[in-house]
Amino acid sequence: MLMSSVIAHRGARQQAAENTLRAMTLAAEQGARWVELDVMLTADGIPVVFHDRYLDQLTNGYGELASYRFEQLQRLRVHAPIGSDDQAQPIPTLAEALQRLHALGLGLNLEIKPSTRSLWRETLQASLAVIQQSAPLPLVLSSFRHKAIAEALQLAPGIPRALLWERLPHDWKQTALKLEVRAIHLAEFALRRWQVAEIRASGFEVYVYTVNSIKRGKQLKSWGVNGVFTDHPAAFLSQPEWTTRQVRAYGEPL
Ligand code: G3P
Ligand code: MG
Repeated sequence: MLMSSVIAHRGARQQAAENTLRAMTLAAEQGARWVELDVMLTADGIPVVFHDRYLDQLTNGYGELASYRFEQLQRLRVHAPIGSDDQAQPIPTLAEALQRLHALGLGLNLEIKPSTRSLWRETLQASLAVIQQSAPLPLVLSSFRHKAIAEALQLAPGIPRALLWERLPHDWKQTALKLEVRAIHLAEFALRRWQVAEIRASGFEVYVYTVNSIKRGKQLKSWGVNGVFTDHPAAFLSQPEWTTRQVRAYGEPL
């Protein structure tokens, strides 16, 4: 399998400030073997781990993340989730995240999330530059911005790729074959059983976001999905059917 069957979405996001070093560490403590993180660029071109285009909801800052230099962003804190007594956390750089994940022995699904549509090339290239300077770890690149995945095929063909869609389009297979991806990542709410069957029968893996209900997870597993992105990895990992399996690191021989 490309990744493990339980992937900590933005880290252990239900317990800690999402997409932070703390959320990654907590995911590992809960037994997760893989995390999913989002990467975007600061105004001075530093790849940082963050989900929203705007800072307002997730942090004590405001406005577009892309308008902040890294030095300015460092002063902000990402809120802990509502109801948690955890502390607010800094926004990590991608380099810091990779270092922490390597130390924790975790795999990473890095979602290339350009903060504006036009920044896909810069976001991918800056991320690859950081990846190439970091210690290797099991890695999969994904994006809703398929141009970034096409560029990844050109620039770093050895890193496995996945395509993200909210809803599977009718011509999905054509795109998947063209971009030589290993997996399709789809939204839970729009997914149909026949789609999972079609994708699996075509030789691709299927991972589904964001699944926080154990009952729904069980159903998706019975449909043949390979894994789920969840905000609460501990809940899934306490269920016998969600055992995880580590795969070799990117760059390591078979
Ligand atoms: O990569 C899976 C999932 O994270 C995609 O949605 O909005 O949570 O980044 P989002
Ligand atoms: Mg994401």
